[in-house]
Amino acid sequence: IPVEDFDLVIFGGTGDLATRKILPGLYRRMLSGQMPKTSRIIGAARSEYDADAFREHVHQGLKDHVDQSLLKKRDVDAFLGQLDYLQLDIFTDDGWKALGEMLRGDVIRAFYFSVAPSLFGEIARRLVQFKLADQDARIVVEKPFGRNLETAKALNAELAECFDEKQVYRIDHYLGKETVQNLMAIRFGNALFEPLWNAQHVDHVQITASESLGVGGRGAYYDKSGAMRDMVQNHLMQLLCLTAMEPPSKFEANAVRDEKLKIIKALSPVAPNEVVRGQYSATEDKGSYIQDSENPESDTECFVAMKVEIANWRWAGTPFYLRTGKRLRNRLTEIAVVFKDPPHSIFDDTGTHLRGNALIIRLQPDEGITMRMTIKDPGPGGMRLREVPLDMTFAEALEGEDIDLPDAYERLIMDVIRGNQTLFMRGDEVEAAWNWIDPIINQWVEKGSKPIQYDSGGSGPDDALMLMHRDGRRWREIK
Ligand code: BG6
Repeated sequence: IPVEDFDLVIFGGTGDLATRKILPGLYRRMLSGQMPKTSRIIGAARSEYDADAFREHVHQGLKDHVDQSLLKKRDVDAFLGQLDYLQLDIFTDDGWKALGEMLRGDVIRAFYFSVAPSLFGEIARRLVQFKLADQDARIVVEKPFGRNLETAKALNAELAECFDEKQVYRIDHYLGKETVQNLMAIRFGNALFEPLWNAQHVDHVQITASESLGVGGRGAYYDKSGAMRDMVQNHLMQLLCLTAMEPPSKFEANAVRDEKLKIIKALSPVAPNEVVRGQYSATEDKGSYIQDSENPESDTECFVAMKVEIANWRWAGTPFYLRTGKRLRNRLTEIAVVFKDPPHSIFDDTGTHLRGNALIIRLQPDEGITMRMTIKDPGPGGMRLREVPLDMTFAEALEGEDIDLPDAYERLIMDVIRGNQTLFMRGDEVEAAWNWIDPIINQWVEKGSKPIQYDSGGSGPDDALMLMHRDGRRWREIK
């Protein structure tokens, strides 16, 4: 279903995110017929481009980031025809006047701030000063949304001076992932799980976002951030919230965000021995984190594992273990809800230890859902038991159907145009998340804590394994 006609201005339109994600995503939405043919995308940046040079730049981006089979000349030309460019110095008036002349009056306006957060305030004020953003305009901002509570509050205040909260779309691209939304469908679209979704039946939850790549060319940015800010404060906490929240009364933006906020506020402070931080070491052909970050003194972590407790009726006593890191064995993002062991085994004579069921929601790769079940080992060998996965990969379950699975950015940008904020973070949510994360990071700084070195291609430091072992639990394999 096509969205309404729009003008989208991308500040930082020649930058990395626009080139790799936003513009290729919009191209795919155009192919699917969701983006109206009359809609326009205006790149605004400091680069000395004209519209044709910008189109050439975007064309190259499409070649690099879109499947070749989708790049038919007619389609590419049509898309490039919807682009325009404005060389803009945000600190001078001329550019803003020119932008005003480029925008149409009767369509939805969206402004994507794909720039450093230090520029958010200035751009917001200029949009208001030059009357470019009416009550219905949408403002899209990227992470990092602050680096602690104080800076996040300052950013929120700058935006709030100019826009209403209902106009502000804070992107966390994890919320745009297909399986994240499926998590809500599974929880609230099936009567089977919800009665079991609590401390009485769930032993623990583990959330893993493991990456095989290192920090590569992003070392300079990453070294100021670290895994806690780069992945935990946003992506992992969002996954935790969606797994743990109470059922919202409706699948509607504020109803969902209210419930997520309650979870963040219910998180217990984390003791220092419940967090492990690490840095990958060098291999024969790849550098260590220290080499990649080009900072020999770096104390920044690119791995975090932690135990999190939610102090509310539903979850008291059921820990959530979070883990994320670079240069681990494989790329894998999953949420595993591990249920308690059966209360009594009638199969003791068979020598089998009965393990609890587990529901595994795999975000990537091969999105799908698996239920770990115990069955009888088939064959004549008597009553021997074994565990098997009851597997549902989307690719198989929906085989043969012509499904158009937009990637996270595509979906989120279309939601912006539709005016649907459900999959975006509200200002108070972001602040509450920092409020919980800040003391953890402050402790590290105060104590001068050093990350533990771990082997590239493994599953992180041994201390992370111990974090679960000492509770009589273990991490799922990263495979
Ligand atoms: C980004 C982080 O937000 O998410 C990156 O800045 C990380 O460091 C990336 O690699 C992971 O996203 P995805 O979608 O590849 O899991």
